[in-house]
Amino acid sequence: MRVLGIESSCDETGAAIVDDGTHLLSNVVASSMELHAKYGGVVPEIAARVQLETIIPVIEGTFKQAETDWDAIDAIAVTYGAGLGSSLLVGVLTARTLAITHNKPLMASNHVLGHIYASFLSSTSLPGYRFPAQSPSFPFLAVILSGGHSQLVLFSNHFEYQILGRTQDDAIGEAFDKVAKVLGLPYPGGPSVAKLATQGDPTRYKLPKAKMPGYDFSFSGLKTAVLRLAQSQAGVGYDFPSFRLSERLSEAQKADIAASFEYTAVDTVLDRVKTAIQQYNPSCVVLAGGVASNTLLRETLTSELPCPLIVPDPKLCTDNGAMIATLGSWQLMHKQPLADPYSLSISPNLSM
Ligand code: KG4
Ligand code: ZN
Repeated sequence: MRVLGIESSCDETGAAIVDDGTHLLSNVVASSMELHAKYGGVVPEIAARVQLETIIPVIEGTFKQAETDWDAIDAIAVTYGAGLGSSLLVGVLTARTLAITHNKPLMASNHVLGHIYASFLSSTSLPGYRFPAQSPSFPFLAVILSGGHSQLVLFSNHFEYQILGRTQDDAIGEAFDKVAKVLGLPYPGGPSVAKLATQGDPTRYKLPKAKMPGYDFSFSGLKTAVLRLAQSQAGVGYDFPSFRLSERLSEAQKADIAASFEYTAVDTVLDRVKTAIQQYNPSCVVLAGGVASNTLLRETLTSELPCPLIVPDPKLCTDNGAMIATLGSWQLMHKQPLADPYSLSISPNLSM
């Protein structure tokens, strides 16, 4: 069974083809990231305009890479939420049109669920991918950490799950992005903060870990604590413009702030995940979402958790079409309802 997946929920345009929900045949991603860098964040108008131009070449590219054609495709899966409305529209309208013209079943896929399903990929003949040593087995605990989500979800089976906790304010990726701005680092913030943190001392500054009830997260307090720390280290007051703070910090101060922040964010996640494992005893933990490409997080959870950690190749953690092609394959295999190609709408605020 061969599924084409299309993803366009934020600034990436991705298309991929997956066999039997486990074998990656092709994965092409175009990003408009550089165009957003000068604004310090994604500009929805720019993202959607670039997606309009790139989506057809990206889909053609994925067919070429897979050395296959439409006759071999069994279904199309597309992200219909959550995400930016204008970006989602580009992917959904393209998928609807292709489903009608090529007469293929259409699956509407949830972006966050897609991040988790990237862990079911286990092989490819494409160069440069590493896969987890084992596939997820039920029950598993999914830890989704991205620019829009921070949540813990307990899966008892495919498409049967219970949300244990989610963020009450900022997502962890948002906190990385905002700390990057305070430190004057380029967009996207996560990788920039992680890179600088390797040169800093994570114990130099003590930052607060939010104490939330149950399994909920909160990252806005940590983000504000980093801002206050940068202000005090720069010797300025609360009203000093935050975009000029980095000029007043030494390279060593910035590296130590980045490292202390990263350490605290990772430790917050580790605490929550350890407690959930004690209570629910899952067979493994699946780590997903853009922040799952963070090396400290991957290494810390791998060494500290009492059960196996399953985490996709970093290229499959940030937004891509492969995660949607994989999720769509499992939706099809588990007889989830098909979408109507004449009426499928976007759902920008979709939750799990
Ligand atoms: O999953 P994703 O690509 O998009 C959303 O669905 O949100 O996640 C993007 C987020 C951004 O906040 C980005 O800064 C963060 O993931 N990120 C990282 C790293 N790579 C990407 N955060 C920390 N360390 C990284 N290496
Ligand atoms: Zn995402």
